[in-house]
Amino acid sequence: MSNIKDKVVIITGASSGIGEATAKELTSKGAKLVLAARREDRLEKLQKEIQNNGGQAIYKVTDVSSHEQMEELAFYALEEYGKIDVIVNNAGVMPLSPVYQKKIKEWDTMIDVNIKGVLYGIAAVLPSMRERKEGHIINVSSIAGHLVFPAGSVYSGTKFAVRAITEGLRIEEASNNIRTTIISPGTITTELLETITDLELKSAIVEDSKIGIEPASIARAIVFAIEQPSDVAINEMIVRPTIQEL
Ligand SMILES: NC(=O)c1ccc[n+]([C@@H]2O[C@H](COP(=O)([O-])OP(=O)(O)OC[C@H]3O[C@@H](n4cnc5c(N)ncnc54)[C@H](OP(=O)(O)O)[C@@H]3O)[C@@H](O)[C@H]2O)c1
Repeated sequence: MSNIKDKVVIITGASSGIGEATAKELTSKGAKLVLAARREDRLEKLQKEIQNNGGQAIYKVTDVSSHEQMEELAFYALEEYGKIDVIVNNAGVMPLSPVYQKKIKEWDTMIDVNIKGVLYGIAAVLPSMRERKEGHIINVSSIAGHLVFPAGSVYSGTKFAVRAITEGLRIEEASNNIRTTIISPGTITTELLETITDLELKSAIVEDSKIGIEPASIARAIVFAIEQPSDVAINEMIVRPTIQEL
């Protein structure tokens, strides 16, 4: 039997793309899900689909850039399910642009969602995981957390930060038996490009992203990390389309 059965898993950014695919993959293995994102209609639809297939899922509308809302999300999970085994800090935005364009608001949003959102997610689940001496924190970085591409300075900055924070957390929490995993996807076919406001840049990136693979590819990597025995930590994975060079 899969050791994912009955694990309580919080997924941020569950309303589309990688988060939604991860929810579907995990529910097929018997996890109890706590779905979070801002678009309630999408969360409700996904919850219904999971429940119709015999799975267990609750949802809470959450903006990951709010520390209070992330604390409330963790509280809701503990209240409903009694424990938190795993959090997948997946919510992210990618409004790419070259630095000279000074899209300050977009920089702020990337920092708030991609970095602070991950930190708030960690902060919200850590006390109960430390108490139980058990838990798994999975943070979604990117290939852009390993390499820097044109127009990706700020986005890459946020994704390098996710890797640094996760590695620091690994070292700090190893003695508390808390596992950490960094997942770095390459090009995946999702709605992520919709956050790019520079239309010329967007159409070039849409063209490049035609090599993208399905979000389920990342969901399977997340499942692999979770289903290991508790003394085995898959600390880092890069998952690209086979034909992606960089
Ligand atoms: N697609 C790729 O090629 C790729 C490659 C490398 C890494 N990634 C990373 O993978 C993660 C998932 O992205 P995706 O590709 O699946 O894109 P996506 O389909 O656009 O999903 C992004 C998710 O993040 C949520 N989100 C955005 N801002 C939020 C906020 N303030 N609070 C709560 N949720 C928020 C969105 O939900 P709401 O809008 O409903 O809130 C959505 O569910 C991101 O961290 C992204 O950087 C993606």
